[in-house]
Amino acid sequence: MLNNIEIDEILITEKQIKEKIAELGKKITQDYQGKNLVFVGVLRGAVIFMADLARAVSIPMIFDFIAISSYGAATESSGVVRILKDLDETIEGKDVLIIEDIIDTGLTLDYLVRILKSRKPTSLKVCAFLNKNSRRKAKVKVDYLGFDIPNKFVVGYGLDYAGKFRNIPYVFTLNPEIYQGELK
Ligand code: IMP
Ligand code: MG
Repeated sequence: MLNNIEIDEILITEKQIKEKIAELGKKITQDYQGKNLVFVGVLRGAVIFMADLARAVSIPMIFDFIAISSYGAATESSGVVRILKDLDETIEGKDVLIIEDIIDTGLTLDYLVRILKSRKPTSLKVCAFLNKNSRRKAKVKVDYLGFDIPNKFVVGYGLDYAGKFRNIPYVFTLNPEIYQGELK
């Protein structure tokens, strides 16, 4: 499917992802028994993770989506975040679980948590597929985490570079000889 020369290193395999999803799904199923669970997926990166994770959760739940601007086509967070597409439904009185693809500086999530908290959900927690600790600028609590990764720009499994590679079912870094100068 992929041209092999585009890949530098595979960081997380399909098998590892599958196992982690099963584990997270089980935990969420236990923790949200009898609650009003709403998955709030952050478009577009979290779509693949959310679709798989939701199917590993076996209690009633609702999906909603929000889109926030972050990087545009660049690979560095600008720190400027705004809502591009808001939720369709109210979250007041709901048990909201934010589903994110990756937390890097934490600026995006920090902003999102603030906004959603002001809408008075019963509870508000965060589930992220990936976490990079090394570049954190805002303090954010991650309640459910897939994997900690080193400070590298990764793509695949929902994560993109200039809109590409979201459909690749594993997580990898791009060959610096091809993308040199564009990646930080
Ligand atoms: P933060 O505000 O720096 O935490 O940025 C979080 C957002 O930046 C994520 O939701 C991703 O869309 C994007 N992002 C951060 N690191 C990467 C990466 O390594 N690959 C692809 N997107 C990334
Ligand atoms: Mg994102």
